[in-house]
Amino acid sequence: MKERLEQLQVEALVKVEQATDSKALQEVRVAYLGKKGPITEVLRGMGKLSAEERPLIGQMANDVRAAITEKLEEKEAQLQKAEIEKKLAEESIDVTLPGRPVQAGTRHPLTAVVEHVEDVFIGLGFEIAEGPEVETDYYNFEALNLPKDHPARDMQDSFYITNELLLRTHTSPVQARTMEKYKGKGPVKIICPGKVFRRDDDDATHSHQFMQIEGLYIDENVRMSDLKGVLETFAKKFFGEERNIRLRPSFFPFTEPSVEVDVSCGMCNGKGCRVCKHTGWIEVLGAGMVHPNVLEMGGFDSKRYSGFAFGMGVERLAMLKHDIDDIRHFYTNDLRFLTQFTRG
Ligand code: PHE
Repeated sequence: MKERLEQLQVEALVKVEQATDSKALQEVRVAYLGKKGPITEVLRGMGKLSAEERPLIGQMANDVRAAITEKLEEKEAQLQKAEIEKKLAEESIDVTLPGRPVQAGTRHPLTAVVEHVEDVFIGLGFEIAEGPEVETDYYNFEALNLPKDHPARDMQDSFYITNELLLRTHTSPVQARTMEKYKGKGPVKIICPGKVFRRDDDDATHSHQFMQIEGLYIDENVRMSDLKGVLETFAKKFFGEERNIRLRPSFFPFTEPSVEVDVSCGMCNGKGCRVCKHTGWIEVLGAGMVHPNVLEMGGFDSKRYSGFAFGMGVERLAMLKHDIDDIRHFYTNDLRFLTQFTRG
C-alpha cells in the first residue's frame, strides 16, 4: 500500500507538470484527489489494515494528498501568470505607430459660395431669410406682379404639383413672404439663399435644379444708387477689389426699372477675351427697384417706402469664381472635383 501511494504521488506530480492549461490541471485534480480517485480508495480500504499500520498509512495518504495539492496550486499560479502575460503581449499598443488618418470632408463648393456671399451681406447689415421650396402660385408669381396669363410667366417654365402649388422657380417669393411678415414697416434688409427649379433640359450651363440668392432692401428713400453701391461692394468683396460693375437696362415684372448687372471680366481685366466673349464684361445678376405693385401687395405704402431687389445664381457665381466649365460637375459628386474648392 505504501508503494501504491508513492507511485500515485510520482504519477500525479508528473501529470501536473505536463498540464498546459487550467482545464487540464482541473482534470488531474479530479482524477487523483476526487471522491472516486485512488487516494480516497486507499483511505477507504484502511479498515483492513492492522492497528500499527493504520496511522502510518493514514499519515502517508495525507502527505501525498498535501504534496499533490501544493503542486497543483503552484502550477495553477504559474499557468495563470503565463496566461496574463500572453494576453498583455497580444493587447499591447505600439504608441509609436503612425495613426490612421480620419477622412475629413470638405464643404461643397456651392455651400462655400453661399457662405461667402452671406458673409459679405451680413457685413452690410443684411439678415438671412428662408422660404419653402414648394411654393404657392400666389407667392411665386402673383404677389410679384405676375398675374395668371401674364406672358412673362413663360420666362420660367415651371414644375407644377397642382394648379396652385409648384416648385419655386426663383427665390423671389421669399421677398413677398418677408414683406408680409414685416406688416408694412421698414426697414427690411434680407438675403435669401435657396434651391430653385425650372423645366430646363440639363446641359453644361443649365440644370433643372439650381441655387439662387435673393436680396431685398426696403426703407424710406432707398434709391438706385444704393443698389449700385451695395452690388459694387459685393462684386469687389466676392470676386476681388479690382473688379467693377455696370448696369444694363432689362425687364422683370417685379422691378421697375430693372437692370442686368455685369462684372468686369477677371481673366482680361475688362480688355476682352474668350471668357467674356470679347466684351470685357460678364453678366452676373438681375436686379431693380421693387415695383410699386409688389410693395403694395406686400403691405408696404409705396409712397412712403421704396426698395431694391436682386437675384443671382449660385452655380454661376461658383463657375465664374473658379473657372468651371460645366454646371453638372456640382451634382455628380466626384470627390476629385469637390475637394478642390475650399475657402479658408
Ligand atoms: N427672380 C429673378 C430671376 O430668377 C431674379 C431677380 C430677382 C431679378 C430680384 C430682379 C430682382 O431671374
